[in-house]
Amino acid sequence: MAIDPTRERDLVAQALAARDAAYAPYSGFRVGAALLADDGSVFTGCNVENASFGATNCAERTAVFKAVSEGRRSFAAIAIASYDAAPCVPCGICRQVLVEFARPDFVYLLVAADGSYERHPTEEILPHPFRALEKG
Ligand code: THU
Repeated sequence: MAIDPTRERDLVAQALAARDAAYAPYSGFRVGAALLADDGSVFTGCNVENASFGATNCAERTAVFKAVSEGRRSFAAIAIASYDAAPCVPCGICRQVLVEFARPDFVYLLVAADGSYERHPTEEILPHPFRALEKG
């Protein structure tokens, strides 16, 4: 079941707002995400960089980890935004993390800096996820 247009626009607005909390002094690339849980709650996230670059956490994973640590494990959609003119696409690690908790009809909303966005299903974003060890 697709999420309704008002909900979708709300999620996009929350992702755009979440960019402002980003800690990105090294790349300067600030990202915000807003993740919609099955119960209707929304968890936002931003990227958090580190002087030891590999310790950096993307906005999407920040949102997922916040949500799972608050007891949510099933999600309907995520909106992802940066300040770039092009729609913000998730990295490979975030795609794999999201697929673990995404509903079959999960939707990615990839947002451009002007607020316009593209809608993509999981099959387009991560066609062959690793699931061999996944628990039910
Ligand atoms: N980043 C995200 O937060 N999400 C993405 O989808 C792509 C990349 C962050 C990681 C790093 O802080 C910065 O953007 C540059 O890669």
